[in-house]
Amino acid sequence: MITALNAAELREAIAPGKSVGLVPTMGALHAGHVSLLSRARAENDVVVMSLFVNPTQFNDPDDFDKYPRDLDRDRRTAEEAGVDIVFAPEAQTMYPTGFDTVVTVRALSSVLEGASRPGHFAGVCTVVAKLLNAVAPTRAYFGQKDYQQLQVINRMTRDLNMPVEIVSCPIVREADGLAMSSRNVRLSEDDRKAAPVLSKALAYVQDIADTGVHDAYQLRAWLAQTIEVEALAKLDYAVIVDPCDLKEVDTIDHGAVALVAAAFGSVRLIDNRILRPASGPEVRR
Ligand code: PAJ
Repeated sequence: MITALNAAELREAIAPGKSVGLVPTMGALHAGHVSLLSRARAENDVVVMSLFVNPTQFNDPDDFDKYPRDLDRDRRTAEEAGVDIVFAPEAQTMYPTGFDTVVTVRALSSVLEGASRPGHFAGVCTVVAKLLNAVAPTRAYFGQKDYQQLQVINRMTRDLNMPVEIVSCPIVREADGLAMSSRNVRLSEDDRKAAPVLSKALAYVQDIADTGVHDAYQLRAWLAQTIEVEALAKLDYAVIVDPCDLKEVDTIDHGAVALVAAAFGSVRLIDNRILRPASGPEVRR
């Protein structure tokens, strides 16, 4: 496995004419990241993993400072997962003096995570655009865990004619349902026990939909109430939206995704679930 520190070293390491899979990460790798790496390994000649804790996407400096970092451990995990090249640039390499460009996907970035974390998606888009340009991958792999990020990246690559296939990978969860996240290690013992309420509420909403409830407002009320019963969860949002434009829908009949965000202590967690349309008769309550 090769470690490249800048775009020139990257270009040297990637043989021409090969299919290339890129997995962008901020390190602190867990089984969720590994699932993306395995998929990229299965589908491409060359696998590049970028590892860069991108300062411009952290609206909270404390969150950036506390973000877990362990390059040696991440390199071992990457090697075991079959990564060929780790691209691990310094901040000064990505954002040299005079850097002055921002890539913004406007509407999709202004809601939900974007509303709670101003500037976050501009930071994500700018760094992902740079990574895509530096690596020029055939495919780039993103987790459904960060559902809004995935849709923002889809929009950006289409709008800017970026010649890459964006591959969406399913959410990897802990045994109790908690979506894996690098931030989970910062949860207190009590918050860690409480955090699976997010995935439980999402599963519960699908169960209710399966009984025939189509009405998104009713389902959203169930979703919010289930999370609010957990005293340690401070709910930010619980919505049911269109899978592509992320606007709230009236019914889940034409496809919908439920998205939630809540803070447990100082740790903000997100989760989501693509809802299957209900099939049975509507249950009126
Ligand atoms: P990071 O949080 O390190 O996540 C890297 C990739 O792993 C993202 O595509 C994310 O959706 C995916 N991922 C995280 N947890 C997952 C899980 N439990 N199951 C499946 N996939 C999961 O997302 C970022 O980094 C950054 O914003 C980045 C795209 C690298 C730009 O800086």
